[in-house]
Amino acid sequence: MKAKLAVLISGSGSNLQAIIDAVATGGLDAQIAAVVSNREKAYGLERARQAGIPGRYFPLKPYRDAQRSRAEYDADLAALVSEYAPDWVVLAGWMHIFSEEFLRCFPNRVVNLHPALPGQFPGAHAIDDALAAFGRGEIDHTGVMVHLVPDVRVDEGPVLAQEAVPIRPGDTHETLAERIHAVEHRLLVETLRKLIG
Ligand code: GAR
Repeated sequence: MKAKLAVLISGSGSNLQAIIDAVATGGLDAQIAAVVSNREKAYGLERARQAGIPGRYFPLKPYRDAQRSRAEYDADLAALVSEYAPDWVVLAGWMHIFSEEFLRCFPNRVVNLHPALPGQFPGAHAIDDALAAFGRGEIDHTGVMVHLVPDVRVDEGPVLAQEAVPIRPGDTHETLAERIHAVEHRLLVETLRKLIG
């Protein structure tokens, strides 16, 4: 049976698109069971729609407005994702940090993509943080990693794959992001292929 993936996104979904394309061309023997976004306008939801994949919008704001806890949101999100019985939960640009309420439902089944090397630049601004460090002469490359998410640490966990990406003089956020995304699209698909066997 094909491995079932649930892909969680917050934005453009170019990495989701890489997975969609790999599945469509037979490069990844998997089924994308659902795409979940915490942002309504995330273009990734449109990519899912075009590919005929169920897309779900699940925002945190109503929970905040109702003074419901983050743990409740995460538990309800886990229930929503569980409806699709995924073998793997893939965080492809998902910009929330999980609590145990989510992670304990998918032990060692959550895979995160992050645009930096292990131990460097966790969080939502990894590309800008790397550019700033380059500007200070501290680094000459950044990178990409794919890792398991065993617990609530941010952008940390057993590393499944990593690849360095050079930073060049004159790089802007856009030029470096483009180079990083090209590596991400390949590395994420390769890593998922190894994971699902
Ligand atoms: C990717 O660069 C991914 O590594 C990053 O969000 C981007 C999503 O791009 N994730 C993180 O920064 C996680 N901390 P996409 O929506 O085009 O796939």
